[in-house]
Amino acid sequence: MQPDHRPLTPDCLEAMLQLEQAAHPVPWSRQLLAGCFSERYFSGSLWRGQTLLGFYIADQVLDESTLMNICVTPPCQGQGLGRQLLARYVESAAARHISQLWLEVRESNQAAQRLYLSAGFVEQGRRKAYYRSAQGREDAVIMQKVL
Ligand SMILES: CC(C)(COP(=O)(O)OP(=O)(O)OC[C@H]1O[C@@H](n2cnc3c(N)ncnc32)[C@H](O)[C@@H]1OP(=O)(O)O)[C@@H](O)C(=O)NCCC(=O)NCCS
Repeated sequence: MQPDHRPLTPDCLEAMLQLEQAAHPVPWSRQLLAGCFSERYFSGSLWRGQTLLGFYIADQVLDESTLMNICVTPPCQGQGLGRQLLARYVESAAARHISQLWLEVRESNQAAQRLYLSAGFVEQGRRKAYYRSAQGREDAVIMQKVL
């Protein structure tokens, strides 16, 4: 059964929080997630029935967007859902007349970097020792895609 794409709404918050905590080593708080329903943000999500499988959250400032969060529930990772979500993000951004997409990813997050590279993002720079990590600090890799 193909998952359904739906926009995120405040009713999704509990499911988002659970997925966020399962998928990310340093998850966003409930408050941070709840802040992403304002005008400045747009989002998408994948569901199977009542189960949230993945979501993305992005912001828009003029003709630029930053992908703030993308995650897939761990039992469903590696099945193409992250790629589907990212493709939806790019489509939604294009429909909003956005011309540049930006994101930041941990240097150690090779799975996400491969996904972004295969979707046409390119590395544009690094923020040195930006993230806390188990080893101390690690770089943020800054990636961009021009639409
Ligand atoms: C990153 C994430 C969203 C990818 O979603 P996914 O559904 O697992 O990825 P997909 O199955 O769509 O795979 C798409 C591509 O990503 C890359 N990829 C995914 N998992 C990978 C892994 N474990 N190792 C290496 N590359 C991987 C591959 O390039 C893959 O393409 P391929 O299958 O043709 O080789 C997901 O792993 C996730 O939620 N991770 C935790 C949260 C996170 O790190 N978010 C990104 C923060 S910047």
